[in-house]
Amino acid sequence: MDKIVINGGKPLRGRVDISGAKNAVLPILAATLLTSGRNEVLEVPQVRDVATMIHLIVELGAAIEVFEDGRLVLDTSRVDNIEAPYDLVRTMRASCLVLGPLLARLGAARVSLPGGCAIGARPIDLHIKGLKAMGADIRLDGGYIHAFADKLRGTRYYFDTVSVTGTANLMMAATLADGETVLENAAREPEVVFLADVLNRAGAKIEGAGTDAIVIQGVSSLRPLSCKIFPDRIETATYMIAGIITGGAVEIGNCIPHHVEALILKLREAGATVEENGPVLKVSRNGKLKAVNVQTSPYPGFATDIQAQMMALMTVAEGQSIVTESVFENRFMHVAELRRMGAGIAVRGNTAIVTGTKELSGAPVMATDLRASASLVLAALAANGESSISRVYHIDRGYASMERKLSALGADIRRVP
Ligand code: UD1
Repeated sequence: MDKIVINGGKPLRGRVDISGAKNAVLPILAATLLTSGRNEVLEVPQVRDVATMIHLIVELGAAIEVFEDGRLVLDTSRVDNIEAPYDLVRTMRASCLVLGPLLARLGAARVSLPGGCAIGARPIDLHIKGLKAMGADIRLDGGYIHAFADKLRGTRYYFDTVSVTGTANLMMAATLADGETVLENAAREPEVVFLADVLNRAGAKIEGAGTDAIVIQGVSSLRPLSCKIFPDRIETATYMIAGIITGGAVEIGNCIPHHVEALILKLREAGATVEENGPVLKVSRNGKLKAVNVQTSPYPGFATDIQAQMMALMTVAEGQSIVTESVFENRFMHVAELRRMGAGIAVRGNTAIVTGTKELSGAPVMATDLRASASLVLAALAANGESSISRVYHIDRGYASMERKLSALGADIRRVP
């Protein structure tokens, strides 16, 4: 298994361009299953989760016609397999996004239950309840969800908890259902809005995406999808923090600043400089950072996917900050590893109390999940001396060319087998 070795303490300088959003492309790939024909997706990021999703869609019967330079052409005319197997689903929970589209297009789906994962139980009960409310007959057997529906029908469904992939799954299913579906307490993430736009351009009738009530009028068929994936907001956030934690000055190109508004405000509150200029963000800092408190919540709140990276930043701020995780119940796996680098962090339930230290020191650490591993990279970039981060396959799930991008900014970083 590969390791990333970083010699920290070097201020990052220069420009980095952001890749397409992983969490936007995954539902789009699932949505191609609703169509029959040649779907074209541009700016597909080269990350492992995307490769897993493409693998799954191909297993289901789609054919890759072109996949080069981020351009993917997928022919979905021959999709006929209804099974998303355990081997794929266990490596990526977002595989469950095929459940709604398969059911809507083929009338049946067999999708492995995802099981637990490093950041909490993460059930998909809300997806299942919603599809049942749309008339699906669903049974759990042998670790699989077996779903059938001759024809899904519109319904009014309230999400007990805001769920991003739950909203996407039901929205996709509802595009081909009979009648009107209303999704209440829906997720408002940019990835949901994008999915609705792309589906609408293919003939769907979706209104209200971006608010907490989405209304979908079912249609009889959709044309193949055609879209360009927008820049990844979590990658944007990670490079912003990389510039600031190292005391450098970094320009982040090809990003959408308003998708990271909550982070921008927190970074400014901490004393960093963040300038917005169209699709470019410039970050830097003069002197020490001040501790600030953050609490994660669904969009447009502070993203849980940036919590670990923000905590890494707070370990070198002046004073004490309180980081509250309110989306997932077990998302502090990075704490023990950050402590190995000299960070002062105490955890009480879903709250971490971070006491800033003058300097982190390099250490061997282990990545536990995707965003936790990003926080370790950030801490290692700021730390004095050498750090090695093992289990970097977690980073490869969601960050395109991270070592190359950080090296270009002046980081001393290398991957060793
Ligand atoms: C998506 C993102 C992930 C991000 C998360 C929260 C993708 C591919 N992944 O994950 O990067 O961290 O949103 O912003 O877009 N829940 C239930 N029952 C359900 C569904 C969810 O209880 O049926 C709970 C979860 O356990 C969690 C909360 O709802 O506590 C939010 O989860 P959800 O928004 O569904 O996360 P994902 O869509 O899996």
